[in-house]
Amino acid sequence: GSASFSQIQRSPLFSSLNSEDVSYFKEILGDKNVIEDEERLETANTDWMHKYKGSSKLMLLPKNTEEVSQILKYCDSRSLAVVPQGGNTGLVGGSVPVFDEVIINLSLMNKVLAFDEVSGILVCEAGCILENLATFLDTKGFIMPLDLGAKGSCHIGGNVSTNAGGLRLIRYGSLHGTVLGVEAVTANGNVLDMLGTLRKDNTGSEGSLGIVTKVSILTPPKLSSVNVAFIACNDYLSCQKILVEAKKNLGEILSAFEFLDNSSMDLVLNHLDGVRNPISSSDNFYILIETTGSDETHDREKLEAFLLKSLEKGLVSDGVIAQDINQASSFWRLREGITEALQKTGAFYKYDLSLPVEEIYNLVNDLRERLGDLANVMGYGHLGDGNLHLNISIAEYNEKVLGLIEPFVYEWTSKHRGSISAEHGLGVMKAEEIFYSKSPETVALMASIKKLLDPKGILNPYKVLPHSAFSP
Ligand code: FAD
Ligand code: MLT
Ligand code: ZN
Repeated sequence: GSASFSQIQRSPLFSSLNSEDVSYFKEILGDKNVIEDEERLETANTDWMHKYKGSSKLMLLPKNTEEVSQILKYCDSRSLAVVPQGGNTGLVGGSVPVFDEVIINLSLMNKVLAFDEVSGILVCEAGCILENLATFLDTKGFIMPLDLGAKGSCHIGGNVSTNAGGLRLIRYGSLHGTVLGVEAVTANGNVLDMLGTLRKDNTGSEGSLGIVTKVSILTPPKLSSVNVAFIACNDYLSCQKILVEAKKNLGEILSAFEFLDNSSMDLVLNHLDGVRNPISSSDNFYILIETTGSDETHDREKLEAFLLKSLEKGLVSDGVIAQDINQASSFWRLREGITEALQKTGAFYKYDLSLPVEEIYNLVNDLRERLGDLANVMGYGHLGDGNLHLNISIAEYNEKVLGLIEPFVYEWTSKHRGSISAEHGLGVMKAEEIFYSKSPETVALMASIKKLLDPKGILNPYKVLPHSAFSP
């Protein structure tokens, strides 16, 4: 069974699609970009985790901003609800319809528009796949300031709309800092051209305020020396000490600091092909450290000295530095592959939390104790950013177990002044839970911004904000 939207009611304010609507869309987009094919709709209605499923009868594939504008203008006048969709890799059910919302998928808007080789500023359409942008930049000697396991499918527009974090945030910061501008279309079809002039100001809206059609982003130069170490650690306190030491000793070259616990490691080893633990004897925690700099000898010496010192201090039980690029990617595979491995387990519950670093593993332990043999609890994530991915895998979805997890996890997080949405967004999964990390005043302000930009509420309804925010 999948997690359902059973508590949510379809809003009676929205109209239902009719054949005249479809004809109109065909007129503006051409027949082949108006998708009614059942198989394609099945895919577009289903999220990456196969957990959330809508029943849309129509997917539209606009080729340019003007078409997005025409679509929205029409949908707004007809009160047809829509869901903007990028690569559909979102993990909170934000990218698929809840009911019959029209899917507006941006995948045909995939052109690089400009690249300035001096400033490193890239301007592209929102439907560009992250990995394709990275490949393009590589030929120019630059990299994307963000990287994540979904790079092969996710779109830059989706990344910006969720303000995605990922594996390089520790070095290049949040997208809020590197996105210089966006072009977006609001619900009534107005095109807001804020591309490259204004500092971006509407990211993280998860498709609820507008559709991002173009992005301008500052990209850092590609540096010649990349080193990756994979280390094992006996206890969580040592993991924290290693983080402090890494920031101090590897400071300017540190580009990733990721962790996984033993349960996450077992999961990956059991569910993915061709992976192995590079550490000979298993331990309770593993840390992946990446450095990126411009002097191979210097950087490597630094990392080796760091590892040696950590071993001497007893913080690390064992560690390996990748000898070549293949070994480096095999280390990364262990960390980045966890999400894919989870997908193969059957059912899983996923939480994406920001917490004070010293508290992170207390939550994992508390939940493990609470669930006992009922489920397998795993902790991994972006330790360098204080971001825990708490995941619970179980043979099949079970309301009783869910009742033990929620609201426990949310209350625990709120009590420690954390966030229940560190980087994945709220989507439909956590729209009603927003108060665990945002004050009523903040939520009310968000709702009034939403109302201003999308008075009829057609853009990605039932997501991000709680139902109560719109009640009088
Ligand atoms: P979608 O899933 O299609 O959409 C996500 C949300 O954005 C939806 O609410 C949708 O309506 C909205 N949206 C999409 N495109 C637009 C647009 N053009 N305009 C307006 N709204 C839009 N996330 C992280 O933050 N860090 C990670 O490290 C990370 N790793 C991941 C690893 C894996 C294996 C997977 C499957 C997911 C991971 N994610 C991660 C989550 C997800 O990939 C990101 O949220 C990603 O940015 C979503 O991009 P997308 O194009 O797939 O968007
Ligand atoms: C990650 O860091 O691996 C992603 O955010 C996906 C996940 O949480 O599983
Ligand atoms: Zn993550």
